[in-house]
Amino acid sequence: MENPIFHPFMFLYQLLQLLLDNILSAPAEGATLDRPKIAIIGAGLTGVSAATHCVGHGFDVRIFEAGPREQLGGIWSRAKNTSDLHIHSLMYRFRPSVQWNGGYPNSQQIVSQITELWKRYKLEDKTKFNTKVERVYRYGKGRWIINNITEGYFEGVIVAVGACGENRVPLIPGQENFKGERYHSSDLTGKEAKEKTVIVIGDGASAVEALEFAAHEEASKIYILSRSDKWIIPRNVIADIVLALNIFDGETILAWIPEILLRKFFYRDIEDLASTHQRPFTDTPMINSGVMNKIRSGQAEWLHGDVKGFTEEGIRFNQRSKGVPKGGPGREYLIKGDIVVMATGYERPSLNFLTADNFRDPYQPPNWYLQAFPPSHPTICCNNCTYLNAIGTAGNWHTGIYTRILLMFLSDPLPSPRPYWMELWIDTTCTLKKLAPKGAFDFVAYLELVWWLAFYIVLNPSRWKWAFFVLFGVDIGLPRVVEAKDELGYWMGGMRNKNSYDIDNRF
Ligand SMILES: Cc1cc2nc3c(=O)[nH]c(=O)nc-3n(C[C@H](O)[C@H](O)[C@H](O)COP(=O)(O)OP(=O)(O)OC[C@H]3O[C@@H](n4cnc5c(N)ncnc54)[C@H](O)[C@@H]3O)c2cc1C
Ligand SMILES: NC(=O)c1ccc[n+]([C@@H]2O[C@H](COP(=O)([O-])OP(=O)(O)OC[C@H]3O[C@@H](n4cnc5c(N)ncnc54)[C@H](OP(=O)(O)O)[C@@H]3O)[C@@H](O)[C@H]2O)c1
Repeated sequence: MENPIFHPFMFLYQLLQLLLDNILSAPAEGATLDRPKIAIIGAGLTGVSAATHCVGHGFDVRIFEAGPREQLGGIWSRAKNTSDLHIHSLMYRFRPSVQWNGGYPNSQQIVSQITELWKRYKLEDKTKFNTKVERVYRYGKGRWIINNITEGYFEGVIVAVGACGENRVPLIPGQENFKGERYHSSDLTGKEAKEKTVIVIGDGASAVEALEFAAHEEASKIYILSRSDKWIIPRNVIADIVLALNIFDGETILAWIPEILLRKFFYRDIEDLASTHQRPFTDTPMINSGVMNKIRSGQAEWLHGDVKGFTEEGIRFNQRSKGVPKGGPGREYLIKGDIVVMATGYERPSLNFLTADNFRDPYQPPNWYLQAFPPSHPTICCNNCTYLNAIGTAGNWHTGIYTRILLMFLSDPLPSPRPYWMELWIDTTCTLKKLAPKGAFDFVAYLELVWWLAFYIVLNPSRWKWAFFVLFGVDIGLPRVVEAKDELGYWMGGMRNKNSYDIDNRF
């Protein structure tokens, strides 16, 4: 623990983490795994976290991971070693027992927390590496089968394939002629840029990381080529929590408030850089404060426009004026550089292993119940892999909440909604968010979760008993009581087909 006199905030933070661990962590040992069995696809942060929640509450699991053992931890195991969390770790609590030693842990510290959880909950024997899931289907109205029956049967499925798959490297005309070095942003470990000119293509979180890398390496000049004009928000825990809660949601009449505050207090003298045609809640904003100083000092230049192609010496760029959208007219010129970093993102992992009935129009991801549950199969939970844009999306408390909602659906048919109610919730959310700058589920924030709690739990007394379990993982024998009631119903009237927990058994 930090010294409370020299580091009072860090001391309080560590104390809070210890308390959360002691009060809310489901036991790692001793749980009898005699409840429905769950298949988890992906061994990144979400898959491992979901598995610990399941096991801690007595549900057996099997994790299927496409990559080898070295890929435990998912995208963070592949990120360059200087990558760190952009959002404060207070918003990255994927398990109550996670212990951060600082506000912004790096990729190694994150992978080590994931690995520790994996070991602590004895998931080694339950994880199958080098196993890409290609098919998830039901045998008749029975349980789920993953790839083929040799893997066994499962009552529930958690899809945790993430949002970042293979590196996305677009083909740009003339790239083969470029005489300098060219890397994807995830491939910068060990690279040198001293006194070189670095050109970064892209304006997402990876572009900001590439800028930081180049500045740290003492590059002489850094250009960020931004095509879409995204917002940058400060690395400030209070500001980020407020924005992630989305209390000034883009579709309310208060939407101008965060924009004005960001312009006046964060962008200040370089207010011109702030987007005029995008909103802070349109695309995932970048979270960084240092970038502003690098631009003010002249070390970095942030240019809006389109990449036209490579030459031997650099990039042909069409610089657009403020407000002119992607592909619009501008001034074309050559930006000379020694290194080009393709901060162009990642391909989206496919969900095509799910059966076609999960993608029934208009209920296609992200337009699913709570964005995670396809209305045709509430025993499938796509955790952290259907979002498009957000602030503080992945890796926080909600990973456990969504997992426990699935556990609730599997334990008790009474609170499990039928497709009609799930679709009604989706339709109502779309109506409430009609004024959203993009689709209702394109930019998610905790507001949707709060709205679901009101709609689903608060308004229905028969579900109140689940509130603490879903929100905090406190079960105090609850699923056992529910199981006993379920057992009684089964013997008295065949209430539940014991082989199926899906829509065939909803009230
Ligand atoms: C450099 C970097 C920094 C980031 N920083 C932040 C941040 O500050 N805050 C934040 O909220 N998010 C951040 N993110 C986003 C990050 O993706 C999430 O925070 C989180 O790590 C996602 O975890 P995950 O387990 O959902 O997905 P992943 O870590 O991507 O794991 C998914 C796993 O599923 C496996 N898989 C995929 N398809 C299949 C299949 N068909 N069969 C079997 N296995 C499969 C993959 O091999 C992979 O191991 C960052 C991302 C990157 C790249
Ligand atoms: N530490 C962190 O917090 C951190 C670090 C890295 C990544 N991440 C997360 O990881 C995910 C991926 O982030 P990312 O920054 O790697 O990818 P990203 O958000 O998908 O951004 C990719 C960028 O590349 C641009 N681009 C793509 N193709 C282009 C082309 N042909 N010409 C010009 N520009 C092109 C895109 O422009 P358009 O927008 O116009 O398409 C966009 O600006 C996000 O969820 C992000 O939050 C987080």
